Amino acid sequence: MEDLSLHILDIAENSISAGAHNISIVLNEDGAADLLSIEIADDGEGMSEESAGKAADPFYTTRTTRRIGLGLALLREAAESANGTLDIRSARGSGTTIRATFQLSHIDRKPVGSMAETVTALIATHAGVDVLYKHTRDGKAVVFDTKEVRHQLGGASLNTVKGLNVIRGYLNQEENALAH
Ligand SMILES: Nc1ncnc2c1ncn2[C@@H]1O[C@H](COP(=O)(O)OP(=O)(O)OP(=O)(O)O)[C@@H](O)[C@H]1O
Ligand SMILES: [Mg+2]
Repeated sequence: MEDLSLHILDIAENSISAGAHNISIVLNEDGAADLLSIEIADDGEGMSEESAGKAADPFYTTRTTRRIGLGLALLREAAESANGTLDIRSARGSGTTIRATFQLSHIDRKPVGSMAETVTALIATHAGVDVLYKHTRDGKAVVFDTKEVRHQLGGASLNTVKGLNVIRGYLNQEENALAH
């Protein structure tokens, strides 16, 4: 995967598989500290301490369809190639938080990519899940909360072609403003 946004979509799929109703995705780019951090947190079923310790091992999976699980292993590899780390915090019954860090200026750090596409895809494929997305960059911020938008729409579904296009357009515009 070329872009971190694709890793993030893949990690959010784990949250969906764990039965999460709420997923939060927080990106922070701090130029002064030369640090990019990505945190994906869910309220899914969580993992035991033992499972959490093994979850980023390529040969650990609870999938029954195949014997390898690569999502977390690949994110860890992406983080470590850019002088960063992957940290998994989880407990049975109380959800999971995945935190990856990267040296922002590292030559091998993958680009963030299109978070507008990632957030829109997540909403499009999992209508019932609430997503809180926050991206900060040197003091500027993009914040998007499906709960808030749903409320503004008077409870109407976000998950229509029109709704998704509005969300994608809004996020693209906000992400562009953040980058410049
Ligand atoms: N958010 C989460 N909540 C609960 N369990 C998780 C979560 N994320 C990962 N896991 C556990 O860790 C395992 C490994 O996750 P990983 O994403 O690396 O591989 P996978 O999802 O099994 O397969 P792949 O991502 O390659 O389709 C999962 O099978 C699951 O048991
Ligand atoms: Mg996975």
